[in-house]
Amino acid sequence: MTIRDARPGDAQRIAEIYNHAVAHTTAIWNDELVSVENRAAWIAQRQGDGFPVIVVADDLDEAVGYATYGPWRPHDGYRHTVEHSVYVRGDQRGRGLGRALMEALIARGRAQRMHVMIAAVESSNAASIGLHERLGFENTGTLHQVGEKFGGWLDLTFLQLVLDDRATPAG
Ligand SMILES: CC(C)(COP(=O)(O)OP(=O)(O)OC[C@H]1O[C@@H](n2cnc3c(N)ncnc32)[C@H](O)[C@@H]1OP(=O)(O)O)[C@@H](O)C(=O)NCCC(=O)NCCS
Repeated sequence: MTIRDARPGDAQRIAEIYNHAVAHTTAIWNDELVSVENRAAWIAQRQGDGFPVIVVADDLDEAVGYATYGPWRPHDGYRHTVEHSVYVRGDQRGRGLGRALMEALIARGRAQRMHVMIAAVESSNAASIGLHERLGFENTGTLHQVGEKFGGWLDLTFLQLVLDDRATPAG
């Protein structure tokens, strides 16, 4: 397995992973499936904005997981904070790929001089909460019934990792 920046040719595999999560899980709170072109445009936009989209690729160079981060909130004062997401294809879970993607993404965040990474996780998602706690993220709390999917309310748990020990933003 190799971790590398996403390329346009990864859009199909990324769309498959994303659409499975949309259709069958509460990992992502969207209802609409996306096209390959949609994911290709998303990769280009995100990377064009200077944010990473990385994949873990198998021996055939097919993406079996991906991770990314982008702005947390659209206000100037949040410029040192990013929100990320990480997805591993169902048949590849439990083999360390999520952790490897996250370690690479955290390294990118540090290289970009980001200060905080935030995961916003549906509260019953034990795998994601376990992954983040294993990586040292602090569980900072839960917002109750802020989402809906499949006819039920969803709770949202936040986990954060402080990436450096700068005493001030300019430090
Ligand atoms: C969350 C996810 C990315 C984890 O990826 P993964 O490749 O299966 O995880 P790893 O094998 O790297 O596991 C790393 C750590 O995560 C934790 N973990 C993984 N699966 C877990 C589970 N089912 N329950 C509890 N903890 C789990 C463990 O602490 C594990 O460390 P360990 O193996 O040393 O015990 C994967 O389950 C996934 O893609 N889920 C669907 C999408 C999703 O929920 N994404 C997160 C949205 S915020």
